[in-house]
Amino acid sequence: MFFADRITVVYPTGTRANEEVSLELRGGEILALLGENGAGKTTLAKVMAGLLRPTSGRLLIDGEEVSFRSYREALARGIYYVSQHPQLIEGLTVLEDVGLTLSLAGKRAARGELREAIRRLSSKLGLKVEPESLCEELSAGERQRVEAIKPLLLGSRFVIFDEPTTHMSPLEARALGEIMKEMKREGRGVLFISHKLKEVMELADRVVVMRRGKVVGGLRREEADPRKILELMFGEVQAPTGERREGARGEVLLELRDVKSFRVRSVSLKVRMGEVVGVAGVAGNGQRELFEVITGIRAAEGGRIFLAGRDITRLSPGERIKLGLSLVPEDRLGWALVPGLDVATNVYFALDSKRFIIDWGEVKEVAQRALSIVPIAGSPDSRVESLSGGNMQRLILARELYRDPKVIVAMNPTAGLDYATTRAVREMIVRLSEKGGALLISEDLDELLELADRIYVMSRGAIVGEHSRPFDVERIARDMVS
Ligand SMILES: Nc1ncnc2c1ncn2[C@@H]1O[C@H](COP(=O)(O)OP(=O)(O)OP(=O)(O)O)[C@@H](O)[C@H]1O
Ligand SMILES: [Mg+2]
Repeated sequence: MFFADRITVVYPTGTRANEEVSLELRGGEILALLGENGAGKTTLAKVMAGLLRPTSGRLLIDGEEVSFRSYREALARGIYYVSQHPQLIEGLTVLEDVGLTLSLAGKRAARGELREAIRRLSSKLGLKVEPESLCEELSAGERQRVEAIKPLLLGSRFVIFDEPTTHMSPLEARALGEIMKEMKREGRGVLFISHKLKEVMELADRVVVMRRGKVVGGLRREEADPRKILELMFGEVQAPTGERREGARGEVLLELRDVKSFRVRSVSLKVRMGEVVGVAGVAGNGQRELFEVITGIRAAEGGRIFLAGRDITRLSPGERIKLGLSLVPEDRLGWALVPGLDVATNVYFALDSKRFIIDWGEVKEVAQRALSIVPIAGSPDSRVESLSGGNMQRLILARELYRDPKVIVAMNPTAGLDYATTRAVREMIVRLSEKGGALLISEDLDELLELADRIYVMSRGAIVGEHSRPFDVERIARDMVS
C-alpha cells in the first residue's frame, strides 16, 4: 500500500496547492483522482513520484516511511509517474529514451531486446509506438503512449497516470484502459487522474475528489454517479443549454484550396465571417499537419491558403499572425507559451515581439488588460509553467481574444480541461467567431456538434465529407471511418 499522509505543499509563490491531503493507494485497485483545474492533483502526484518535496507530510509504502530525494529513488521503489505534459528527451529516439528511464531505475536491457519488447507491447496493447522514431517529432498523443508503456517495462508497483488520455484517440484511450485493468489484475496500484467522467466511471474502483488543495470527498464505485462527482468538484452544476445561433454567411475569411503537405493529401475548405467551422476526424488522420500548414510552420507542397482574400501560402507564421490569424495549438507549453518567463511577458511578447526597448510597466499593463477578459488563477508575475493545465489554456485564449483576430484556428482546445473551464473556453470560441471566424480542429465530436455551424470530416489526409446543421451524427461517424 502506498500512503500519502497529510501532505501539504506551499509553492514559493505562496500558493497552497495541497493542504493536509491524505490518499491511500492500494495494490490491485484503480483509484481515480478528480478535481477542477488547479485543484492540486498534479502537485500531489509529483510529491508521490519524488519530483517535489512536500512542505510537510509523509509518504509510506507498506507502512514504512520513505523519503524520496529524487525521481530516481521513487522509480527504484517501484513508483512510476506518467506526466500530464510528457517531456521525452528531444534528440533521442524512443528506444533510447525508454532505455534511459530503465537505467535510471537501475535496470539494464540490451538494445535489441528492448526494441523487441517495445514492439511487442505496442502491438499487443494497440498503442502504436515505434522504437526508432525521434522523440522531438512525436505529437502529444504519441508521447503519452510512449510514457504509458514505460511502467510495463519497468514492472512498477504503483503507477500514476496524470490525464493520460488527453491527446489520445478514443480507441487508444480504450487500449490504455485495458492496460490499467491488466495492471490491477497483476496486483499493482493505479492512480488515475482524469477529467473524463466516462472513463472514470468505466475504470475506477474508487473516486477521490480534490478542490482548492483539499480532499473534499471519496466515493466507492457503487456510490459514484457523474452528477454526484460533479457536485463534489464544483458545488452546484449548471447543465449546458446546447443552443446555437445560426451561423452568419458573410465574407470568406479563411480559404484553403487543394492544400497538400505531409499527411495532408488534399484539403479545400472555407470559413466565413461569423462561422464556427469544425474539422472532425479520428486522431492521426492529418489534422495536426493541417493545423501546422495553416499556421505556416509546415510548408504547403501544393495548393493555396487565403486569409481575407490575401494569399498567405508563402508567408511566415509571424506574418500570418500580424494579418489577423490566431492560433490555439494542442501542445500548450513550448508552442504557445514560453516556459521560464512569467505570465505578463508571455502575453506581451506574443502581441508584439519586435520591440527593442522593453517598457516593463507597459508589459504588465497590457497583460493585465488581456487577463481582465478571462480571469486566470495566477498572477502576471507567475511563471507560466507553474499554471495548471486549464489556466494555461485560459491564458492563451485571453491573449488571443485581446488581439481581436480575424480567424482563430484551434486544435483540440478543450483537451484536459475541467467541466467549467471547457464551458468557458467554448464560449470564448463562439465569442471570437462573432467578430470573425473560427476553424475548430477537434477529435471531440461532441464538441463540434455543439459549437460548429458546419463540419468537415477528414480521413487519411483528405476532406471526405461536409455536413451542415441539423447534423446527422451517424453519417458523420461513417465519414470518419471511411
Ligand atoms: N511550480 C509551481 N509554482 C507555483 N505555483 C504552482 C506551481 N505548480 C502549480 N502551482 C499552482 O498550484 C495550484 C495547483 O496546481 P496543479 O497543477 O496541482 O493543479 P491540477 O489539479 O493538476 O490542475 P489541472 O487539472 O489544470 O492540471 C494551482 O493554483 C497552480 O497554479
Ligand atoms: Mg494537473
